[in-house]
Amino acid sequence: MGAVTVGWVLTLLRYGVRVAPGGTLLTMGLAVLGSVLGMAVTLLTGQVVGAVPGVIDGGPDAMPIGEFSWLLGGLLAVFVIDSLTPALHQVASLVMDAGVVRAIGTGITQPLLEPRRIEHLEDSEVLDVQERAKGQGGFHLAQGLGQLPWLIASRVTLVGSAVIVGAMFAWWVAAMLVAVTILLEWYGGRLIEREVDVWWGNTEEQRRAHYLFNLGMRDAPKELRVFGLHKWLVERYVGDWTAGYRPVWARRKRNAKWSLLIGGVHLIANGVAILAVGRAAYNGTLPLTQVATTLPAILAIGQANNGYGVAQVRRGLSAYRAMRDLPATIAERHPEPVVSTKHRIETMPAREIRFEKVSFHYPGSDLAVLRDLDLTIRAHEALALVGVNGAGKSTLVKLLGGAYRPTSGRILVDGVDLADLDLAAWQRRVAAIVQDFLRFPLSVTDNVVFGAVERAGDELTLARVARESGIDDVVRRLPKGWDTVLDKTFDGGVDLSGGEWQRVALARALFAVHAGAGVLVLDEPAAALDVRAEAELVERYLELTSGVASLIISHRFSVVRNADRICVLSDGRIVEDGTHEELLAHDGEYAGMFRLQAERYVTGTEPVDA
Ligand SMILES: Nc1ncnc2c1ncn2[C@@H]1O[C@H](COP(=O)(O)OP(=O)(O)OP(=O)(O)O)[C@@H](O)[C@H]1O
Ligand SMILES: [Mg+2]
Repeated sequence: MGAVTVGWVLTLLRYGVRVAPGGTLLTMGLAVLGSVLGMAVTLLTGQVVGAVPGVIDGGPDAMPIGEFSWLLGGLLAVFVIDSLTPALHQVASLVMDAGVVRAIGTGITQPLLEPRRIEHLEDSEVLDVQERAKGQGGFHLAQGLGQLPWLIASRVTLVGSAVIVGAMFAWWVAAMLVAVTILLEWYGGRLIEREVDVWWGNTEEQRRAHYLFNLGMRDAPKELRVFGLHKWLVERYVGDWTAGYRPVWARRKRNAKWSLLIGGVHLIANGVAILAVGRAAYNGTLPLTQVATTLPAILAIGQANNGYGVAQVRRGLSAYRAMRDLPATIAERHPEPVVSTKHRIETMPAREIRFEKVSFHYPGSDLAVLRDLDLTIRAHEALALVGVNGAGKSTLVKLLGGAYRPTSGRILVDGVDLADLDLAAWQRRVAAIVQDFLRFPLSVTDNVVFGAVERAGDELTLARVARESGIDDVVRRLPKGWDTVLDKTFDGGVDLSGGEWQRVALARALFAVHAGAGVLVLDEPAAALDVRAEAELVERYLELTSGVASLIISHRFSVVRNADRICVLSDGRIVEDGTHEELLAHDGEYAGMFRLQAERYVTGTEPVDA
């Protein structure tokens, strides 16, 4: 057995035993048992065949009939056991598979989901490692583990059969066959290593192909049809997919040629061994028992050359290594800061959240979205943030929530740098409707209580936020009320309108606030609301946000003007800061934007006067 292969097998075996001990040990044991039984058949068959002429002739040296019957009985018993093991193996490998698939799922998703920031999810290096760990196209860890028992069993067969050949016939033949097998498997392993290298070099294309697949199936099926893009999508998907795998196939084709050659060499070695046995038998130097045992043993060595097993185990190993490296890759490229636990986050912010000379550009981009921005959000204050599209408002929210770190400058919560706070605890303090809020394909209740899962059973609060957000009317109309699943692909599920969804998101944020969150962020909460819903929101806004530090982002001045303070974000900084009246009097950017919108409303609603 090639030394490299031993390492691969041991690595995967250790993993299998760790995540699915019972199933793994049982499959391995059964496969090895099968191999041992196979050798027992070889030995017993040899004995039976060798004894037959004597038993028929009934000569003086002949085996007593009683002993012969025992031999036959033994052979039969081995056959029976041998034919039972595959069925048991099926069950054992199902058990192993269940454990392994669960462990792989956790092993890949956990390191990606655990970090409280999200930079790593936009890092192509991390995404590539993740793609390799998932191991499409036959590079799958579970498939490698599935082959492991057979590979191990074939090792046992190789060694055992070699011993039989050596003891029964000639050690040089045994040594030759083992040497050729090891050499060929080692070479086969090298070929697979190269294939894995090629595959690792192509994960980006494969990632893109999977993205397109999800786009068509899940993320944007409606838009694709409206714009007639489905044909384009299919072509792009097939194109990217093929491009991603073509180099792997090319490599496999080349490998196939070598594999044929390997097979040829193997055939020659086996042929030489069988001829040697035949010659010895012909010359009368090898008794029948030995001939009848050696020949099947030689054939068994031939079958023990398990190129497919080696390849699958090696491919599985590539996925295993990627999965093993994933947490370290993330930790290395996106280190989590060491946090001090001495701050009482549960009451933060008691005074204020202060952005201090905060600059930011997204990872991999040179464009500075925020530049030396100073901004203070006082506790118990409703602050509105306005600015043109792309000004950086949502980015500021992401920094506030700790999804990204400032490139330079600090965000201080009651004087403590956000970087020093336990981010998970801080994020529980922040209730937010982000601009692209989540629409869970779950019940209305779940969609709301996800704002603070620890208070999931709190029906009073649920009823309260339903009133405050205006979803009580919506829920009343739904076929199963609060239990209606908000996704049409589920039985009895419905889809909500954009504005209704927005109210659900609002209810979720309010649920979090009533559960004790100290910061409320509303990024475009009114964008999809009709005029009346907007008016209601505005009316309640100050009431909803009393007692928390709130930040509202909106392009609608009806919403903005109610805030205690308004800040204008432009060129990456706060350029204006004051109440609605103060900013109008200042006659700057805010006043300009306000007048433009007001004018439109006037000309839109009173065309006669215009
Ligand atoms: N994940 C990202 N990676 C790189 N650049 C990004 C990313 N998200 C946003 N940007 C860029 O950052 C800038 C600010 O975007 P942001 O979403 O903060 O604007 P905004 O003020 O919220 O705009 P809007 O009013 O349209 O919501 C834009 O130029 C945008 O292209
Ligand atoms: Mg935005």
